[in-house]
Amino acid sequence: MRIDKFLTELGVGSRSEVKKIIKTGQIMINGIPVKKPEQQIDETKDVVTYQGKILCYQQFEYYMFYKPAGCVTAVTDAVHKTVMDYMKDLTRKDLNPVGRLDIDTEGLLLITNDGMLSHELLSPAKHVPKTYYAKVEGKVTEKDVNLFIKGIDIGEKKPCKPAELKVLVSDAVSEIELTISEGKFHQVKRMFEALDKKVLYLKRISMGRLILDENLKPGEYRPLTEQEIEELRR
Ligand code: URA
Repeated sequence: MRIDKFLTELGVGSRSEVKKIIKTGQIMINGIPVKKPEQQIDETKDVVTYQGKILCYQQFEYYMFYKPAGCVTAVTDAVHKTVMDYMKDLTRKDLNPVGRLDIDTEGLLLITNDGMLSHELLSPAKHVPKTYYAKVEGKVTEKDVNLFIKGIDIGEKKPCKPAELKVLVSDAVSEIELTISEGKFHQVKRMFEALDKKVLYLKRISMGRLILDENLKPGEYRPLTEQEIEELRR
C-alpha cells in the first residue's frame, strides 16, 4: 500500500495534508524518514510512526454505539446530531452505521468500515434477528402475541414475517420485547399501529448475536471484542 493512502485511511489527514506532512520528515518507516508519498509499505510488517507515535493499521474496525434519541443514523446532517458527532475521537473516515434507527429510537447500532459484513447483516435473505424493547400505549395481550406469530399486515405486498412478541407488562402502558427478522421502514411502529397501538418508546437491544452492552450509556460507544466480531461473522 502507498504510504499516503495508509495515512489518509488512518485519518492522519486528507491526501494533500498527508503529502505536506510527509515533506516535513515526521513520518518514518522502520525508523527512516519517508521522502515520497508514493513510497510503498507492507502495512502488516512495517512500523510507521508520526511524531514518534506508532500508527497501527487495522483493515476493519467495529464499534458498538448506544444511539441516543434525537440523533440521526447518518454520517452528516445539517440540523441534527449524527452518529459520527458522538464518535469524534475516531479518526477513520470510512466508518458507517449498519442499518438505520429512527431519530427517536435508542439503542444498539453497529458502526464499521467492513462493507461485506454490513451487507450480509442487512441482506433480507439472511433474516438476521433484531430484538427491540418497547413501551406501547394500551394493553398488549396474548392475542397480540399470536397475531405477531401469524404475520402482521402493515399495508405492503406481503404481511410481515412471523415475529416473536414477549409481553413483559400488560397494562395501560405495556412493556414488550419484539424480535423481527426484517428491516422494513418504521417496522416495529407500523406493526403495532396495525393493531391500533402506539409505540411510545423504542430501543434496539440486539442484532444477531450482538447484545447492547449494559455498561454503555446513551451516546457512548466501544470497540467490539474479538469474540463479538467472530460471532457476528458466524
Ligand atoms: N422499527 C421502527 O419502527 N423504528 C426503528 O427505528 C427500528 C425499527
